[in-house]
Amino acid sequence: MLVGHIAVPGDKSISHRAVLIGALCEGDTRVRGFGRSADTESTIAAARALGVQVDEEGDEELVVHGVGLRGLRSPDSAIDCGNAGTLMRLLTGILVGQDGRFELTGDESLRTRPMDRVAEPLTRMGAHIETANGLPPVVVEGSGALKRIDYALPVASAQVKSAILLAALNAEGTSTVSEPAPTRDHTELMLRAAGAGVRQRPRSVSIDPAARLALDEVTVPGDFSAAAPFVVGATLLAGSELTIHDVGLNPRRTGLLDVLERMGARISVFNRRKAGGEPIGDLEVHSAELTATDVGVEEVPLLVDELPLFALAAAVARGQSRLTGAGELRVKESDRIENVTNGLRTLGVRIRARDDGFDVKGVPTRPTGGRMTSDGDHRIAVLAAVAGLVSREGVDVEGADAVAISFPGFFDLLESVSRR
Ligand code: S3P
Repeated sequence: MLVGHIAVPGDKSISHRAVLIGALCEGDTRVRGFGRSADTESTIAAARALGVQVDEEGDEELVVHGVGLRGLRSPDSAIDCGNAGTLMRLLTGILVGQDGRFELTGDESLRTRPMDRVAEPLTRMGAHIETANGLPPVVVEGSGALKRIDYALPVASAQVKSAILLAALNAEGTSTVSEPAPTRDHTELMLRAAGAGVRQRPRSVSIDPAARLALDEVTVPGDFSAAAPFVVGATLLAGSELTIHDVGLNPRRTGLLDVLERMGARISVFNRRKAGGEPIGDLEVHSAELTATDVGVEEVPLLVDELPLFALAAAVARGQSRLTGAGELRVKESDRIENVTNGLRTLGVRIRARDDGFDVKGVPTRPTGGRMTSDGDHRIAVLAAVAGLVSREGVDVEGADAVAISFPGFFDLLESVSRR
């Protein structure tokens, strides 16, 4: 069981944005509660390569010395985005408004991920972008004046939406992005806090060109996606009573709470408040027996990174669960539909892949256990670890070190609240 009180690292999505948007500000931005991980380290390194001074004041505090909306400098060599798709896509949006030539590359996984989804709308705005058949490396030739755009996203992606919004800061006229289903709006919230003209509607957002941005301070809430394995673990392990403090509760991130509540989970939210424009609160989780549910296309973006954990919850819930409309999982850090279904099947779970999701025949008993490989994907490594706790014989996690991409202290924190 999982027992005790914990806090999780700062939100990864918001940490990336704090550094990138801080870099575009006039003056300094102090970032508190920065979520340090391999991915966000890549973002600090990229900002520095672009001529931005970033001072690290302890593990969780940074000062980003902004260079203004068009002040980034073109480096001599390619910028390595590591494993971070968020960094590569958001930075592409930023660089199209700068002067000079920029090349973005990444690790083996990132080099297989689609970048045409950002290149296409940005090219329509007048940007010069080259990719290798839609894949990294991405080469941006800063183009000066950008045109405004009205763009309907073909897939619900906060990264693509954010790339367009960041480019639109330097465009001539107001741009609008509409989305097939609401996705996380951290970019919108932070840009508005920085003084940009941002107007949000339920399925679209408009942004005016900006003359200057200034942030002063960003307080990063705890990462809901880092809390999620603890929420699912405490729900599934009998006798658990776990409190997770100061967790970001942006409604476009917390779809897993709604899904688990539908399944019968016992999760209470206390101390709801705001930190840095984002809703936060404390989660108290008690173990519960679950029943099956379906998750469809409208809901998918609200728990996109938690869908592997949903598969585990569904595996031990009573009845048949189905995920549809989640084809995006195939182009994440790994093909998460294959890795989730193959991995959980080896542990004795009755799960079958669909093109755009999976079907799970849940049985309210512990899976057997066995061996699972992360395929270098942090969310799969975390899934395997929680599956290990829930299983009868434990799970041998191959490539467990992938957790460091988003949450280096994951295993220590898990250990600290695990009781037999
Ligand atoms: C993210 C958006 C999502 C998510 C990723 C982080 C972001 O990706 O899966 O982990 O910070 O904007 P997509 O926009 O590709 O869905």
